[in-house]
Amino acid sequence: MEPFLFVVLGGTGDLMRRKLLPALARLQKRFFQRVPFRVLGVSRRSWNDDRYRRWIREALDETPEPGHQPVVSHFHFHSLPETSAGAFAALRARIETLERDHQLPGNRVFYLALPPGAFGPTVTGLGEVGLNRSRGWTRLVIEKPFGRDLDTARDLNATIHGAFDESQVYRIDHYLGKETVQNLLVFRFANYLFESAWNRDRVHSVTLTVAESIGLEGRAGYYDGIGAIRDMVQNHLMQLLALTAMEVPVAFDAASIRREKLKVLQSIRAIQPEDVVLGQYTVGRVQGREVPGYHEEAGVEGTSRTETFAALALHIDNWRWHDVPFLVRTGKRMPRKLTQIVVNFRSPPVCIFESLGPCIPHGNELVITLQPDEGFVLMFDIKEPGEPLRLRELPLHFLYREAFGTLPDAYETLLLDILTGDQSLFVHALETEQSWRLYTPLLTAGLPVHPYPAGTWGPPEADRLAERNGTVWRVFDGGHPFAGKGSSR
Ligand code: BG6
Repeated sequence: MEPFLFVVLGGTGDLMRRKLLPALARLQKRFFQRVPFRVLGVSRRSWNDDRYRRWIREALDETPEPGHQPVVSHFHFHSLPETSAGAFAALRARIETLERDHQLPGNRVFYLALPPGAFGPTVTGLGEVGLNRSRGWTRLVIEKPFGRDLDTARDLNATIHGAFDESQVYRIDHYLGKETVQNLLVFRFANYLFESAWNRDRVHSVTLTVAESIGLEGRAGYYDGIGAIRDMVQNHLMQLLALTAMEVPVAFDAASIRREKLKVLQSIRAIQPEDVVLGQYTVGRVQGREVPGYHEEAGVEGTSRTETFAALALHIDNWRWHDVPFLVRTGKRMPRKLTQIVVNFRSPPVCIFESLGPCIPHGNELVITLQPDEGFVLMFDIKEPGEPLRLRELPLHFLYREAFGTLPDAYETLLLDILTGDQSLFVHALETEQSWRLYTPLLTAGLPVHPYPAGTWGPPEADRLAERNGTVWRVFDGGHPFAGKGSSR
C-alpha cells in the first residue's frame, strides 16, 4: 500500500467516532503498520492536534476492541470555520505542510463525513483551491444520501463532476461492504451449478427482506420526512437486488460489475402504485419490550405521514427475469433484525406423489442470510425414514460463524478499497440517478400509509401484495421457516 493522507471533513462527528476510527484502528494493525500515513480531522471546532488526540483516545476507549490503539500521534486537526475560498486555501496550506513534514507523496483521501447540505459547498471549495488533484492520487468519498430525488441527485453529481472525475469518486453504500453481500458475487459466479438455475425457467420469485427491530434511535431530525423509500429502498435494497439479478460481468473489476448492476436498474419496469405498500409503526412490543408508536417518538410531528415500512413488487423486464416478481420490503420496529434473500425455485411440473394427498406445494428455496447469522440454507425435500411414505422439508446449511468466526466490519473493507483504489464496491453516479428515476414518482404520489403495530412484519396489505404476485413472505431462522407474514405474527 502506498503512503497516504486521510482527510476527514467532519472529523469530530459521529461517523468518525463510531465507524471510521475503529476501522482505521483495525486496518492499521492489519495492513499499514509500516506504511507512512497521517489522518487529518477537519471540523468547525477551534481545536489543536493535542485536543483532537484526546478526543481520539476517548473515542477509541469506547470501541469494543480495546486491544489495539492506533498511533494517536498520527492524528492531526485543522479547524475549518467556514467554507470560504480563504478557509479552503488555509486547509490546502496545512495539507502541504503535513505532507512535507512527514514525507508523504501527495496521495490524498477526502472523506466527507458531513451532513448532506454541506456536500456541495465542500466539494466546490476543494476544487476551487486545487485540492481536487495532487502529485499523487486524490480520492473523494461521500456517504448517502446522494440527493433526495432525481433532480437533487443530478445536481449533486453535476457539482461533484465540476471538480472531480468519476474515477476519483467513492460513493459509499455500506451494505456493499458487508462480507455477505460481496459473497453474493462469488456465490453466483464461482458456482456454475447455480448459474443454470438462476433465471425465469427455474426461479418462480425472489423475496428480499431488510428488517430492523430498532425505531428512530433519536434520529427524527434526519428520518422524519425522509422515510423508508429514500433511507433504505432506493439505495441498500436496490444494490442487493442488482447483485442478485445481474448478468455475469466480463471481468471481476469495478467497471464490469457496475455496468451490469446498472443494466438491472435500467430493466426495472416503472413502478405502479398498486405494486407498493407503505406502512408506519404504531405502539407495540418488540422483543418483549413495549415501544412507542412512530407519532410518539421524540421530534416527530403527530401528523407525520413518513413511511417506516415499504414493500414493493418489482418486475425486471429482461430475458433472464421476465415474469419473475422480485418482492422487496424493509421496515423499522419489525420483530427482529434480519436481512435475507429468498430465491423461490419453481415446483416440479408434475407430481408423482399424489398418494400423499395434495401434491408438493412448493419448490426448493435458497435462503441467503446477509445478517445476522450469516449463511446459506437450501431447503429441499427428503423422504422421512420408514413407512408410510412421507416427505419432509429440510435445510442444507452453511454458516459463516461455524466456518470462519467473526466477519470484518463493512467500513474496514470499504476503507481498504478506497486506499487501494478499487471502486467495485462503490456506487457509480449513473446507478444513483437510475435508482432515483424509479423512485422519484412514488415520493409525490400520495400513496396511503398503513399502520402496523411495532413488533410485526408490517401491514397485512404487504401480505396481499405478495399473494397477488403468487408468493408469500417467508423468513428463515437457521433453516427453519418462521413467521415472516404480517398476518401470522
Ligand atoms: C442506514 C440507514 O443507511 O442503514 C438507517 O440510514 C439504518 O436508518 C441502517 O438503520 C441499517 O444498517 P445496518 O448495517 O444496521 O443494516
